[in-house]
Amino acid sequence: MNLSGKTEVYGIVGYPVKHSLSPVFQNALFEHFSLDAVYVPFEVKPDSFKEAFLGLKALGVKGVNITVPFKERAFELCDLSDEPSKVIRAVNTVKFTDRIEGYNTDWIGFLRALRELEKELEGKKVLVLGAGGTAKAVVYALSQEECYTYIFNRTYERAIELARNFSAQVVKKPEDVLDDVDIIINTTSVGLSDDDPPLFDYQMLKNHHIVFDVIYRSTPLVKTALKKGAKAQNGLSMLIYQGMESFRIWTGLEAPVSVAKDSLSDYVLS
Ligand code: ATR
Repeated sequence: MNLSGKTEVYGIVGYPVKHSLSPVFQNALFEHFSLDAVYVPFEVKPDSFKEAFLGLKALGVKGVNITVPFKERAFELCDLSDEPSKVIRAVNTVKFTDRIEGYNTDWIGFLRALRELEKELEGKKVLVLGAGGTAKAVVYALSQEECYTYIFNRTYERAIELARNFSAQVVKKPEDVLDDVDIIINTTSVGLSDDDPPLFDYQMLKNHHIVFDVIYRSTPLVKTALKKGAKAQNGLSMLIYQGMESFRIWTGLEAPVSVAKDSLSDYVLS
């Protein structure tokens, strides 16, 4: 990597951010196109977010991804935002021009990754586990595809609020609709550790199910689904596709998915 006075700076803002794989594949994409640009992590303490975010523009940074826990606060600070981010009320991609432009690419990243498992989504019955920030982007994406969405969340009231905004239906426990749904999506942090108590009895999964977990490791949910003969995938593709869409917004270039995927091949996902 040759840095110069003309090198453009991009990055990811979050807390924590040390675990992020975005710098790995975004720099691989810059290199692929021989762009004089670099992508760096910015770990920002929550108290300093506004100062840091506005400072990025002042410093001439060209664009950033925004991750947990700042997506909603970043949305509020943007001068312009795209239609999906207005509905989701969160941005994961920011482009600094003379103004601050906000975009949400999580939903499109999720859809592209889900389509790797199932091309025909219209009319499918989907159970979404969780009602946090990621669930909002997922439920928005499903509403664009005219899926029939059920939401289960540990905190019932949060599920009600999310369902209301997207004409989805809340369920009191996953088992209530498990036999009836085609697709099951985990958007919660359950599964980050193998010791997490499961969200339901995963032995109830059947081979007709399609299982998608936004966590980018092989969670007990994904492992059990595969053992049962179901189609299942972790969140690595979603991470890559949302990032490729951010890259397109910043550079106008369509990145090849193979370049991003190859750059992550050394990162063992167990
Ligand atoms: P994110 O932006 O990653 O979605 P979030 O907005 O904090 O993060 O949402 C986290 C989601 O994981 C929520 O649905 C949360 O449930 P609550 O609304 O009840 O907090 C869910 N979650 C986190 N830990 C959980 C656990 N141990 N069991 C069940 N759900 C959990």
